[in-house]
Amino acid sequence: FSINLQEVHDFLIEIAHDAGKMIIAGRPAVSRTDSKTTAADLVTETDKAVEKMVSERIRERYPDYEFMGEETYKPGDSLTNAPTFVVDPIDGTTNFIHTYPYACISLGFSVEREPVVGVIFNPFTSQLFTAIKGQGSYLTSPLHNREQLPLKKLEPFYDGDGKGGLSDCLVITEWGSDRASADYDTKVKTFNKLCSDKSSGGAMVHSIRSLGSAALNLCSVAAGWADIYWEGGCWAWDVCAGWVVLKEAGGDIVDANPGKWKVTVDGRRYLAIRGGDGWEAVIKEFWDCV
Ligand code: IPD
Repeated sequence: FSINLQEVHDFLIEIAHDAGKMIIAGRPAVSRTDSKTTAADLVTETDKAVEKMVSERIRERYPDYEFMGEETYKPGDSLTNAPTFVVDPIDGTTNFIHTYPYACISLGFSVEREPVVGVIFNPFTSQLFTAIKGQGSYLTSPLHNREQLPLKKLEPFYDGDGKGGLSDCLVITEWGSDRASADYDTKVKTFNKLCSDKSSGGAMVHSIRSLGSAALNLCSVAAGWADIYWEGGCWAWDVCAGWVVLKEAGGDIVDANPGKWKVTVDGRRYLAIRGGDGWEAVIKEFWDCV
């Protein structure tokens, strides 16, 4: 059956604005914080209320489609081939709790497990990132009048002499909420390698950023503000919407595990990179640091 992706996109933008109002009104003074699996895995009443509002609106409008949301996910649930809304009511909950203005609602839509619509809204900065598969991705904000992403020319990663590559990149990584797994040790070792200099086997990247929202991180790479985003441990709702925004901006996502060029939206380990000649070689350089 045919799906009108433009209609889904427009509807998700409406929802994103309404959710944004709830997020702004639900500043942590009126949110109760309780902890999920670890002391760093946080949820507030606002996350739950936003997901309830969003899922009710979506189910009313699209009763035949599936819904997957961070706050109602149960172990064993999995993304199927069916058209599915994949939603994170607040991506960047830790920032939300601390009033650090880098958080968003992330609304993705996947068909046959491929992300095809993405809408991401940061209500604190009024930045709205949107994309439909095959139609480009856009930023609308007080400073951007629905400008197409990337916002700058995608320069090659290496210059004519083969210099540059990973060491010229601004890399985004995250600590994540799971601090007890093997992933965490891998992260610490990788951060170290990325920053240390070449004589000690490192890449000496320009710098590392860790801002706390997977969805906004993917949008930053899509915009060209950062070159790479690497993380192990996030979920489909963290990346589904940003995936479309990034791919439509000419970027790509591979598996964070060395040698794996293909990753699915629920693959949990991602290495996202902006477009530009030489990107595959930069991915290989990165894998050498993992
Ligand atoms: C988290 C954020 C964070 C990432 C974690 C996610 P949440 O999502 O995206 O940047 O490091 O892996 O779980 O919990 O704020 O929705």
